[in-house]
Amino acid sequence: MKMKNELGPIGIFDSGYGGLTVFKEIQQRLPGYDYIYLGDNARTPYGTRSLEKVYQFTLQGVQYLFNQGCHLVILACNTASANALRSIQQKDLPRIAPDKRVLGVIRPTTEYLSQLTKTGHIGLCATEATVNSQSYLIEAKKYAPEVELHQQACPLWVPLVENNEGDGEAAHSLSEKYMKALMAQHDAIDTVLLACTHYPLMMDTIQAHVPDHIQVISQGKIVADSLADYLERHPQMDAKCSKTESRRFLTTDSTKSFDLKASQFYGSDVISEWVELEE
Ligand code: DGL
Repeated sequence: MKMKNELGPIGIFDSGYGGLTVFKEIQQRLPGYDYIYLGDNARTPYGTRSLEKVYQFTLQGVQYLFNQGCHLVILACNTASANALRSIQQKDLPRIAPDKRVLGVIRPTTEYLSQLTKTGHIGLCATEATVNSQSYLIEAKKYAPEVELHQQACPLWVPLVENNEGDGEAAHSLSEKYMKALMAQHDAIDTVLLACTHYPLMMDTIQAHVPDHIQVISQGKIVADSLADYLERHPQMDAKCSKTESRRFLTTDSTKSFDLKASQFYGSDVISEWVELEE
C-alpha cells in the first residue's frame, strides 16, 4: 500500500470496457496525468444487478484503486454512479479515506443537458439499474429544469459490447427496437443521450436506427471537460495527482480479451494486468 502523502494516479473505474470511452476523452483532455483504468469485466454487466450488488462491487473497485495510490477516482459508469456514488461519498469516504474523492458521470452530464437540445426533449438510453434509480430525472430537475428527459432502458446492449458483437445482426435488431420505443415517447425529441459508457462502443449501429435529424451524443467529452474544471477548482487535489503520463490497465477477467478489445479501441497497444477484487 502507498504512503498517505505520496502522489498518485487518477483512477478510472467501470464494470468493463465502457469506461474506456470516457478514459479516452479524459486522457486527450488531460494527457500529462497518470491513470489507472480498472474494468470489472468478470462481473459485468452491472446494469441488470440489484442496487446492493452494484454498490458492493463498486466499493471494492474504488478501494482497490485507493490501495494503488489513487487519491481521486472517477466512476466512468452510469450504473455505478447512479447506485453507489452517493453512499460511497457520504458513508464510506469519511470512514475509509476522508481525504480522497470519488466523482461520477451523472452530475456533469445533467449540468450540460440544456446545451444539448433545442426542443427541450432528450431521449436517454441507459441500463435498467440507471433508469430505475431515477438519478437522471432527479439531477436534471436541479441542473436543467427546463429539459424533459425520456428514459429508455437498453439492457442487452452491454452484453453485446462486452462480447464484441456491437455491430452484428442482434445489435441491429435490438437497436431498432429500443430506438422505436424511445422515439414513440415524444415526437419533439431532438437528441439521444447515451447515458451508459458502453453504448458509444456501438455508436454506428445505434445511429443507423435513429432518424437523421436527431443527434446521438456520448458523455466522454462532457465528463473530461468537467474533470479538467474540477482539478482547476481544487488545486490541492490536483497537487496530489502524479503527472508522468503513465497509463495502467487492470481487468478482473481475461487480459488477452481485454488487450484485444482495448487496443482496437485505442489504436495503440494495451497490455493489461489481471486483478481480483475482494468478495
Ligand atoms: N458502463 C456502465 C454504465 O455506464 C454499465 C454497464 C453494465 O451494465 O455493466 O452504465
